[in-house]
Amino acid sequence: MKIIMLGAPGAGKGTQAKKIAERYNIPHVSTGDIFRANIKQGTPLGKQAKEYIDAGALVPDELTIGLLLDRIGQEDCKDGYILDGFPRTLTQAEKLTEALADSGNVDLVLDIEVQDDVIIARMGGRRVCPSCGASYHIVNIPTKVPGVCDVCGAAVIQRPDDAPETVKKRLDVYHEQTQPLIDYYKGLGLLFETDGTRAMDEVFSDIVWQIDKVSSEA
Ligand code: AP5
Ligand code: MG
Ligand code: ZN
Repeated sequence: MKIIMLGAPGAGKGTQAKKIAERYNIPHVSTGDIFRANIKQGTPLGKQAKEYIDAGALVPDELTIGLLLDRIGQEDCKDGYILDGFPRTLTQAEKLTEALADSGNVDLVLDIEVQDDVIIARMGGRRVCPSCGASYHIVNIPTKVPGVCDVCGAAVIQRPDDAPETVKKRLDVYHEQTQPLIDYYKGLGLLFETDGTRAMDEVFSDIVWQIDKVSSEA
């Protein structure tokens, strides 16, 4: 099963992708996570990417497409994967379709719909663990001990690109460059839209229903 998660920043792509990866035993491939790991390790790619990410802009296609295609060419991706945060531009989507021409395109594109005002509230409350990557929300998904990661005990932090001004910029970029992909995938008959303002488990049940439907038809 090859799945794409579409949705605005903060729509819940990462939260849902992690649950899907566990349930269907496929790798969770997040370009944002790959960039953040590179930034943390201080690699040349990380240094280039950081400039764009901190500004709320997209990392250029030239840096992103090759990186993603390499990742999904690895052994653990041979039976499928869930893409979170890729594609984000029409060029990225077209290159992915081209690259999958022989092996078969993705099976399903899940679009998580959340309005901008809800997103702004969510991002303000998001906390992440810099050590193990776990994600929380101060109201919706709080840590058991305030400020401390449930999984590994490290102090949780706010992502630098979750500053209010940067969130606004990321939303603009989403509407301009990524939203057109909804029509692109609708045109290919691959799109499933779900209301992402509902509770996490409700969104997940809806997604599972759709994945099981598509795989039973395959
Ligand atoms: P990336 O890491 O992909 O960030 P993003 O798309 O901006 O999305 P987020 O991770 O912020 O949100 P999410 O949808 O995963 O939501 P989450 O589950 O965390 O990209 C970061 C940057 O890297 C980009 O800005 C760009 O610069 C660069 N980049 C990455 N990929 C690229 C590409 N392909 N091309 C070019 N550049 C690229 O949830 C958000 C919060 O809400 C959390 O606190 C969560 O706990 C909470 N929450 C989740 N679901 C619910 C719910 N149902 N109800 C209540 N709260 C919820
Ligand atoms: Mg994410
Ligand atoms: Zn942790």
